[in-house]
Amino acid sequence: MSLLHHLILYLTLLTVVRGDILRPRFYSKTCPEAESIVRSEMKKAMMREARSVASVMRLQFHDCFVNGCDASVLLDDTPNMLGEKLALSNINSLRSFEVVDDIKEALEKACPGTVSCADIVIMASRDAVALTGGPDWEVKLGRKDSLTASQKDSDDIMPSPRANATYLIDLFQRFNLSVKDMVALSGSHSIGQARCFSIMFRLYNQSGSGKPDPALEPGYRTKLDKLCPLSVDQNVTGDLDATPHVFDNMYFKDLVSGRGFLNSDQTLYTTPETREYVKMFSEDQGEFFKAFQEGMVKMGDLQSGKPGEIRSNCRVANRRPVDALLES
Ligand code: HEM
Ligand SMILES: *[C@@H]1O[C@H](CO)[C@@H](O)[C@H](O)[C@H]1NC(C)=O
Ligand SMILES: *[C@@H]1O[C@H](CO)[C@@H](O)[C@H](O)[C@H]1NC(C)=O
Ligand SMILES: *[C@@H]1O[C@H](CO)[C@@H](O)[C@H](O)[C@H]1NC(C)=O
Ligand SMILES: *[C@@H]1O[C@H](CO)[C@@H](O)[C@H](O)[C@H]1NC(C)=O
Repeated sequence: MSLLHHLILYLTLLTVVRGDILRPRFYSKTCPEAESIVRSEMKKAMMREARSVASVMRLQFHDCFVNGCDASVLLDDTPNMLGEKLALSNINSLRSFEVVDDIKEALEKACPGTVSCADIVIMASRDAVALTGGPDWEVKLGRKDSLTASQKDSDDIMPSPRANATYLIDLFQRFNLSVKDMVALSGSHSIGQARCFSIMFRLYNQSGSGKPDPALEPGYRTKLDKLCPLSVDQNVTGDLDATPHVFDNMYFKDLVSGRGFLNSDQTLYTTPETREYVKMFSEDQGEFFKAFQEGMVKMGDLQSGKPGEIRSNCRVANRRPVDALLES
């Protein structure tokens, strides 16, 4: 075997040894109702508040990019750990944690100590898409929950709404996600809302110019100016696309017509490296759905390789990290 083959084998073994092996229907014996319980809790949450399923889907991104999909994002702060909930991209923004709590409670009733919070996030995110008219797909399961969280890592990694396409291409590349994956995954903004806080600079001072982002279609800009005047309570929210309760390719159509809500969204159309994908997805919803599922599965494969557990409460670790080390 060539050196390269040895290297590849070694890297493969390394990921297998250090990570959990994920596979479809992981709970088919230990908790056969797991996936249907998650789906039905998500349906209930959606009936209570349509936006909540989008908010839950966002958790997958914010969990998986920070030390792998290990439910670290769900941990509350403790006296000796600053969690991720108050990180820059999450504070006053991530929401619907109570939906995850409800799912966990239902699962603990059916099969105590069996289904990880990390897997709940993955199943629930898939369900958010399926329940709002998007594609449905099989998820790989078998993740463990982290014992810790890192506010600093979240601050360092999670992208700002000001980010441009070039920056986002590089960021996603670090997680082995292609340009196409990145554009498709941004299509998650087909559902949900964002705060005025996330677009004020764009409306009034893009890149320090003292002017609005020229990529904004004028009619849409007028609408956003009304939603978010300079004096606004910046917690006021607006829709991320024209059909915020339906998972469809409207988001991409909006980008083509200069009606992207976030700067990070609109830049996908103004930048040559990403524009063709935006165009393609705006014209072919099937291509978008296919690429989106692939991207979600790839993102769901990210793992930290650190010791894990099955938490009994998604907000609190059962074990301390030091105990985990002593056991291993
Ligand atoms: C490509 C880089 C991305 C950036 C810069 C970004 C940024 C943002 C921002 C700034 C918000 C609104 C936050 C607020 O104002 O409170 C938001 C909302 C949202 N993001 Fe992203 N995001 C990105 C990718 C993703 C991905 C990959 C997903 C999921 C797969 C996702 C899912 C969502 C959802 C569903 C919402 C709406 C949540 C709600 O209504 O509560 N985003 N994103
Ligand atoms: C994109 O953002 C990066 C860093 O945030 C910046 O250095 C770069 O100049 C920007 N690129 C463009 C084309 O605006
Ligand atoms: C990306 O892929 C390379 C090569 O397969 C691997 O070594 C690396 O760990 C991967 N990175 C992530 C974040 O998964
Ligand atoms: C716009 O941004 C620039 C650079 O960040 C800053 O120097 C300037 O004071 C800002 N202008 C306004 C009106 O906020
Ligand atoms: C949004 O509301 C939170 C909690 O009520 C408050 O602490 C924060 O300052 C507000 N944020 C903005 C940008 O107005």
